Amino acid sequence: MKSINEHVKQKPWLAWLFFLTTVVVVFMLGLLASSVIERRAEAVFAYTPQVELSEWEPRNEVWGENYPREFQSYYQTEDTLFRSKYNGSAMIDMLEVDPRLVVLWAGYGFSKDYSQGRGHYYAVGDLNKSLRTGAPKTKDDGPMPSTCWTCKSPDVPRVMNKLMEEHGAEEGLAEFYRGKWAKLGAEIVNPIGCADCHDPENMNLRITRPALIEAFQRQGKDITKASHQEMRSLVCAQCHVEYYFDKNKFEGSNYLTFPWDNGMTCEDAEEYYDEIEFKDWTHKLSKAPMLKAQHPGYEVYMTGVHADRGVSCADCHMPYKSEGGVKYTDHKIQSPINNVANSCQVCHREETSKLVANVFERQDRIIENRDKLEELIVRAHVEAKFAWDKGATEAQMKDILMDIRHSQWRWDYAAASHGGSFHSPVETGRIISTGITIAQEGRIKLARLLADLGYNKEVPYPDIATKAKAQEYIGLDVKKMKKEKKEFLSTIVPKWLEEAMEREDSWEVKSL
Ligand code: HEC
Ligand code: HEC
Ligand code: HEC
Ligand code: HEC
Repeated sequence: MKSINEHVKQKPWLAWLFFLTTVVVVFMLGLLASSVIERRAEAVFAYTPQVELSEWEPRNEVWGENYPREFQSYYQTEDTLFRSKYNGSAMIDMLEVDPRLVVLWAGYGFSKDYSQGRGHYYAVGDLNKSLRTGAPKTKDDGPMPSTCWTCKSPDVPRVMNKLMEEHGAEEGLAEFYRGKWAKLGAEIVNPIGCADCHDPENMNLRITRPALIEAFQRQGKDITKASHQEMRSLVCAQCHVEYYFDKNKFEGSNYLTFPWDNGMTCEDAEEYYDEIEFKDWTHKLSKAPMLKAQHPGYEVYMTGVHADRGVSCADCHMPYKSEGGVKYTDHKIQSPINNVANSCQVCHREETSKLVANVFERQDRIIENRDKLEELIVRAHVEAKFAWDKGATEAQMKDILMDIRHSQWRWDYAAASHGGSFHSPVETGRIISTGITIAQEGRIKLARLLADLGYNKEVPYPDIATKAKAQEYIGLDVKKMKKEKKEFLSTIVPKWLEEAMEREDSWEVKSL
């Protein structure tokens, strides 16, 4: 073999060829490096503000000018196509799926209408449409208080802060929570969004809901000291939590409060409510003083293994996404089952089918027992009504009604902590099993009482096979409610939106 030197001696032009090739390769490498640097610059450039955001800008589209990727992915919560075994983004009429719910909530708004939650994009529209909010004709009309808006919109912190400037911090908040739901219909129009979770100044996560800050304070904790990773769950805990309306704090005000002062378990909250003799409503059949669990998603999550290992809500529900070399947080908050690759497989090596099966098997097992508990409580309500009809006294019924209250609290706590069967299956299973014990005890007491009253056969079970039959059984006139709702949606809501549009048009957005 000849060496390169010998080749070059024979053909001198070869040296030039080597030299020029090297020049070209070095030049190309230079181009590549410059393109990489440029891409990086573009990534930063993508976040160069286009418009100035005011502190409480409620319009997601305006934030979208500055942060198009986050905005576009947020907007995908409009998608309603995905369905998993029990959840997903489709709107499911739960009273149709399980008419026994109508009996459990007899005398309370949820017996009129209850659909499974869907994407944040729908938060305001779905509240307007729900039969639970009724068909108010004026600002002081309707079944619901203004407090019901609190977890629906970035207009909430905007209005709260406006009222706090006008009336002072305490009285301003009390004023927000005062009066009827229709009072704020024209003010609250933008669905859950950027201003709920971000400080526009630096895009840091921020807590905008006072109830969470106050609950921390009463426990002697300062939420501003929360770590970055904790904040990635706490922004969700502003809304995905158990709460009640404290009517004693300010005159005429339904002050949003979290029942966390004794601790954050199901029993801690129950003890809190029992101590202050709080009830959400009196059951129409059994007359039990009932509690409605709202959605203690955060509380239940915190008892699970993922929380224990420091995993946050955003890790699974808002995973990172890559697009054209830019990595950003996917704001399409949804069931992680629809995105296992980014939601789970960053930490787990198992196949998608295996991880999904893990979720479903936990849900199946929890729901099997929850269903048994539900059956027991429905029967207890029916039997309690039967006992009243047979002449039972308040003294005879007192303990039984408390058993009904406590068992249904547990059932609802498990059912309404959306995702709880996966987030924390052991705790959810424990809550349901204690509920079954209490419901059984109540029914034994009922059987003894009925025997004392001269009745020792099985109490007839009503025909509640469909939603319509169940609603008729508890005496609801759904046709009338639907008709009034239709009128409300075609007359009042358009006026609210018109007023809102005028207000928003009057705000100047400064380009930068
Ligand atoms: C301002 C209140 C609020 C905040 C903050 C909030 N949520 Fe929600 N969330 C809601 C409401 C209300 C719904 C139901 C909307 C509907 O059905 O119209 C919902 C629905 C959901 C759903 C169901 C979506 C579907 O497709 O079925 C998930 C999942 C969810 N939220 C997770 C989260 C996570 C995770 C966070 C924190 C990163 C969070 N939420 C923060 C109020 C909130
Ligand atoms: C329910 C709470 C929530 C809402 C609503 C929300 N975000 Fe975020 N956002 C987050 C979380 C959590 C992160 C991750 C922050 C972190 O880990 O530092 C994030 C990150 C970001 C970032 C930092 C860059 C990135 O992608 O990680 C930007 C910019 C952003 N969001 C913009 C928006 C915009 C624009 C909207 C409204 C269309 C919005 N966010 C709505 C919770 C929210
Ligand atoms: C940020 C990391 C992380 C993400 C994301 C994550 N996990 Fe986990 N997961 C863990 C850790 C840590 C454990 C605890 C087990 C251990 O320490 O070995 C765990 C435990 C589990 C377990 C066993 C616990 C139990 O409930 O019995 C299952 C099942 C599971 N994960 C499924 C999932 C699924 C499904 C997803 C996506 C929806 C997911 N994980 C997302 C880190 C993660
Ligand atoms: C380890 C991953 C993981 C973490 C962390 C996590 N979730 Fe979930 N979440 C899931 C899975 C899996 C489901 C079940 C989805 C299904 O059945 O389609 C779920 C379900 C939900 C649902 C019901 C969704 C629906 O479609 O109706 C809500 C709401 C929710 N989670 C909120 C939260 C909140 C709030 C936190 C933090 C406090 C949180 N999740 C933390 C994995 C997670």
